[in-house]
Amino acid sequence: MHNDIERIFFEKEDIAAKVHELGKLIELDYKDKDAVAICILKGACVFFADLMRAVHLPIAFDFMAISSYGNSRKSSGVVQIIKDLDNNIEGKHVLIVEDIMDSGQTLAYLKELLQSRNPLSLRVCCLLDKPSRRVAPIEPDYCGFTIPDEFVVGYGLDFAERYRNLPYVGVLKPDVYA
Ligand code: IMP
Ligand code: MG
Repeated sequence: MHNDIERIFFEKEDIAAKVHELGKLIELDYKDKDAVAICILKGACVFFADLMRAVHLPIAFDFMAISSYGNSRKSSGVVQIIKDLDNNIEGKHVLIVEDIMDSGQTLAYLKELLQSRNPLSLRVCCLLDKPSRRVAPIEPDYCGFTIPDEFVVGYGLDFAERYRNLPYVGVLKPDVYA
């Protein structure tokens, strides 16, 4: 698995420090609020587990599974809800936790969908942001790292469902895609 990586973008320690920073920001903003954090499966699961343990508040968890990419590296532009939330978010302060904002189409769609359920507030936290690829008019409220237009894997992010368990974020060797 590690042999398939050409270059590491963010080491495990860089990610841990950033996640701690984001956790403190979220903790300040959501203090005394009835909050629910939504993990967008599967990509955000690793980030979510670490981030939530850096937020020392009684925040609720919920999970939504969506699919926007299939097994390719390009967005299909279509967001499919595979698993919806378990609980009603009406009157709650909602924080969507996602792995990466790329074209922004997935999160723009999700925000619109969740907004229609009348939360008190709705924000997005993503570990990575690729602003140069943006198509939808959306920005993350909390973001770990901004990256150039390169396809990355690890720390939850996959290529064809693999490499999610890499402890760092990196770029695959070109022959892996072939
Ligand atoms: P968007 O709708 O184009 O913003 O795509 C968001 C989704 O595409 C993310 O939740 C990821 O699942 C996937 N994605 C975008 N860029 C990458 C990448 O560099 N590596 C792995 N998955 C990515
Ligand atoms: Mg994803």
